[in-house]
Amino acid sequence: MKNILVTGGAGFIGSNFILYMLEKYGDNIQIVNLDLLTYAGNLENLKAVEGDSRHSFVQGDIGDGPLVAELMEKHAIDTVINFAAESHVDRSIEDPGVFARTNVMGTVNLLSCARAAWENADGSYKAGVKFVQVSTDEVYGSLGETGYFTEETPLSPRSPYSASKASADLFVAAWSDTYGMPVNITRCSNNYGPYQFPEKLIPLMIHNAVGKKDLPVYGDGLNVRDWLYVDDHCKAIALVAEKGCPGEVYNVGGHNERTNIVIVKKIISLVGGKVDATVTESLIKYVTDRKGHDRRYAIDPAKIGAELGWKPDTAFEDGIEKTVDWYLQNGEWLSGVTSGSYRDYYDKMYGNR
Ligand code: NAD
Ligand code: TYD
Repeated sequence: MKNILVTGGAGFIGSNFILYMLEKYGDNIQIVNLDLLTYAGNLENLKAVEGDSRHSFVQGDIGDGPLVAELMEKHAIDTVINFAAESHVDRSIEDPGVFARTNVMGTVNLLSCARAAWENADGSYKAGVKFVQVSTDEVYGSLGETGYFTEETPLSPRSPYSASKASADLFVAAWSDTYGMPVNITRCSNNYGPYQFPEKLIPLMIHNAVGKKDLPVYGDGLNVRDWLYVDDHCKAIALVAEKGCPGEVYNVGGHNERTNIVIVKKIISLVGGKVDATVTESLIKYVTDRKGHDRRYAIDPAKIGAELGWKPDTAFEDGIEKTVDWYLQNGEWLSGVTSGSYRDYYDKMYGNR
């Protein structure tokens, strides 16, 4: 793995991944970062790599065939890692079409371009090439009170977001089964950490708590998510890209199940302790539930642990404090992304809820 095409590298996980890879591989890596810079993409996330000759940024769409083909050829790409996606369930409920265009059709275009660049005349592939699809545990649907998602759990997506990610996963698997292309799919649980857009639970609650605004908890607040610090996800993707057995799926998660209300109360206590003691649980506001709200996600990460030696490094208590500190120290970043269209989004989603 030397010349990587990272897509969506100006978003939350993609930008953390680029920082992680440059640190890990030193001079042995070149990264081309293809990102459309939608509302979720932000060049501020890449300030630390500005001027770094190992990273080049290209603004563009993963669905743009000629552009992706040109990048594959010009940079002799040997590894594609596809982070680019529309990633927010609530937005997918409002406007599903763009989820099909980017998450499904964009992925199909990337697969076609990778195959055209890597396939030899006899149908074999150039040595050392790999396509990694960054997917989600949400493709498995919703769990009851017990049990875990394993790689054998049938796909049963329920939201337009998870339906689009599951469709993309099936296309990636088809490129392995039909054309023999070396691929992997990772399916991770909910991430948190620096640079996450404040439409998602943890940064939204930190932002609102700091501003002493209502903390909107959907439904009864007892839905369960399995939280993983973003660097641990990056470590897993790097391992899969390097050592994952072609054709295999790897679930990624750190056995960190929490109800949403427990997360919100933790954030209140951290922000209350660090910033302003008048930030209290009185800010919690139970609001109308999300349509089709999945009740519980929980990952069994045994396979990636046993086969690739992955395990998480950051305990939840440390990770959530680091994350709150990062948002407190990066107020300018937060006000940058919460001005303008974010206000319209917030009013539309939460105004009458
Ligand atoms: P994000 O929304 O923060 O970032 C997505 C990035 O993709 C943005 O920079 C955006 O500009 C870019 N993008 C969108 N459409 C594009 C297009 N057509 N062409 C090129 N770039 C485009 O998302 P994230 O949270 O960083 O998630 C990254 C990936 O990880 C997604 O595929 C998501 O499904 C997956 N994932 C996320 C989580 C999580 O908890 N956030 C968990 C598991 C898997
Ligand atoms: P989210 O961060 O959107 O991730 P996902 O839906 O992909 O798991 O939401 C995490 C959980 O938090 C989910 O159960 C919905 C809930 N939630 C709220 O209660 N209030 C909010 O304002 C948001 C954004 C999410």
